[in-house]
Amino acid sequence: MTWLITGGAGYIGAHVARAMADAGERVVALDDLSAGNPARLPADVPLVNGSSLDGDLLKRVFAEHGVTGVVHLAARKQVAESVARPTYYYRENVGGLATLLDAVADAGIERFVFSSSAAVYGDPGVDLITEDTPCAPVNPYGETKLTGEWLVRAVGAAHGIDTVCLRYFNVAGAAAPELADTGVFNIVPMVFDRLTRDEAPRIFGDDYPTPDGTCIRDYIHVADLAEAHLAAARRLSDGGASGDLTVNIGRGEGVSVRELVTVIGEVTGDRRPAVVEGRRPGDAPRAVASAERAVVELGWTARRGVREMVGSAWQGWRLHHAG
Ligand SMILES: NC(=O)c1ccc[n+]([C@@H]2O[C@H](COP(=O)([O-])OP(=O)(O)OC[C@H]3O[C@@H](n4cnc5c(N)ncnc54)[C@H](O)[C@@H]3O)[C@@H](O)[C@H]2O)c1
Repeated sequence: MTWLITGGAGYIGAHVARAMADAGERVVALDDLSAGNPARLPADVPLVNGSSLDGDLLKRVFAEHGVTGVVHLAARKQVAESVARPTYYYRENVGGLATLLDAVADAGIERFVFSSSAAVYGDPGVDLITEDTPCAPVNPYGETKLTGEWLVRAVGAAHGIDTVCLRYFNVAGAAAPELADTGVFNIVPMVFDRLTRDEAPRIFGDDYPTPDGTCIRDYIHVADLAEAHLAAARRLSDGGASGDLTVNIGRGEGVSVRELVTVIGEVTGDRRPAVVEGRRPGDAPRAVASAERAVVELGWTARRGVREMVGSAWQGWRLHHAG
């Protein structure tokens, strides 16, 4: 097997590339470097600088590297930007996926892993979200992920491609400081950013129907997430899967924003109290995965906790923001 990892120089993609290469898989990364950093990739993983929207390039890469499976992570991922620029998000995330799937089908590639998101569920109002919980995304980003899943399954059925859609919950942490997320779009880097500016962390809303009034999320360490991709790839290459599989990737444990901010205070030593501001539109009170199917279908379960996520993310933050 040779796996093409699109978005392989990105935050999650580089972790996936490393985990798969370390486990002895042959991998090649494709990234247009719009948000990626080639230095994240290990020396033994070749990087093709180009877009997953370029069908001719994909054809060449598949042939030159003998690609037999694809892990597709390349995407635009900022919710607020997707609200402001929906056509761009549909073109990049759905149009780009269609181009990629055409190339995959033409090349006779039979294994495909797709980066989906808990954003497909929207605000389902259940204690634990199973893969059968109805999907109702509340922003264009989530819509592109749900439409992407539909497209992946339809093309898989039409061309005999075995597919796995991984619905990640809230990703945090780093396997090594140099692999850390350098964007400030998720809560952990957002709090680090505030503290680095000598400002109090912000909590958006403390009047939700939750025990401490703040939103509850399911945080997953990126190193665990990378291992889930390896498990999905192995399941496909071992012939264990036929058809399509959709799996939540979370820990099955809820952590409130206030609890998370407390852990960040303990890890950084900066325990200044958070300021509470108004709710942000579109934030669900609670989004926690049922993590059962991943155990049954992939033999995978998360091993790392929130303190490890925050500690490793803080080391990465300090590396990237030194001085
Ligand atoms: N970070 C999260 O919390 C999270 C949660 C759920 C799902 N996801 C999904 O995981 C995937 C990876 O996210 P990330 O956090 O690593 O983001 P990221 O921005 O760090 O990585 C995406 C990578 O893809 C590259 N890229 C973007 N468009 C491309 C294209 N058309 N062709 C080639 N390369 C392209 C970027 O340069 C970047 O390196 C995305 O599909 C995202 O939607 C992320």
